[in-house]
Amino acid sequence: MSGFPELRMRRLRRTAGLRRLVRETRVEASQLLWPLFIKTDGRATAISSMPGVDQHPLSDAPHLAGRAVASGLGGVLLFGLPDEKDDRGTAAYAEDGVIQLAVRQMKQAEPDLVVVTDVCLCEYMSHGHCGLVRDDTVDNDATLEILTKTAVSHATAGADIVAPSDMMDGRVGAIRSGLDDVGYHETVIMSYAAKYASAFYGPFREAADSAPQFGDRRGYQMDPPNAAEAMREIALDLDEGADIVMVKPGLPYMDIVGRAKEMFGGPLAVYQVSGEYAMIKVAGAAGVIDERRVMRESVIALRRAGADIVVTYDAVQLANELESGLID
Ligand code: PBG
Repeated sequence: MSGFPELRMRRLRRTAGLRRLVRETRVEASQLLWPLFIKTDGRATAISSMPGVDQHPLSDAPHLAGRAVASGLGGVLLFGLPDEKDDRGTAAYAEDGVIQLAVRQMKQAEPDLVVVTDVCLCEYMSHGHCGLVRDDTVDNDATLEILTKTAVSHATAGADIVAPSDMMDGRVGAIRSGLDDVGYHETVIMSYAAKYASAFYGPFREAADSAPQFGDRRGYQMDPPNAAEAMREIALDLDEGADIVMVKPGLPYMDIVGRAKEMFGGPLAVYQVSGEYAMIKVAGAAGVIDERRVMRESVIALRRAGADIVVTYDAVQLANELESGLID
């Protein structure tokens, strides 16, 4: 017996129960990270380019932490919106900076919640670039010191994981030794290892008020046509001490996710970025696609491609759907 008509692939697709039984990929709430934008005060404000996503005041931090725990999420990923920006990124590492305060409040409210902090300078720099600018270019080596200070300040506040997203060379090694120097041997580093210079970040730059005031990020983020280079980036970050590596964006870069999983194993994260999220929400609202089904299919596809962890703005709603048995 080697084929049709004895063999029928459709047999196992006949009922929901059979499909579930042979399903190869599952999504759990514990594999989802929920990105949050935190500002110092005021009320929650909607981000028009990202339907369903708000900028939250610090005072919401305990409540947001509670929601993440109640939904069984893997954790939260925090982005800060400081009151003041300058050309040295001072607010990124201030002891009473918005992220440092948010981490403290969240850990106090929910000590078991995994709190991840984005380590980057673009939200804190008046020019919107991810590092120190000298002569109109981002100075790699001078930026490392500020990134390290920022990561250490997040760890001091209680962050479980620091996540550098700046794409400077050598930052993982610099941050690892900076953390170790002050005894934070247990702080985890999740590096945005293969982060592309992507147009899919458009809505985020409104959300985080971090659009570069001149030029673009192509001088430090990766060139979209390159895949072998992504494997080199990941290998280097692992060598420098990254505990988790990330590919970003998600759906348009699933080949990179697949290769990375095959070459390096885990743990591997992927970021369903603002543009991917917004496209699904907007097309759903326009009645062009079924928002919920497309959202779930996208996240399952990222898991199938090899991601252990998925960063998604939709984490809470996905978790609620998991709970009600819509996906497993
Ligand atoms: C900061 C950072 C960005 C994103 C995550 N961290 C923006 C950028 O690099 O321009 C994008 C996230 C998203 O689009 O959802 N450097």
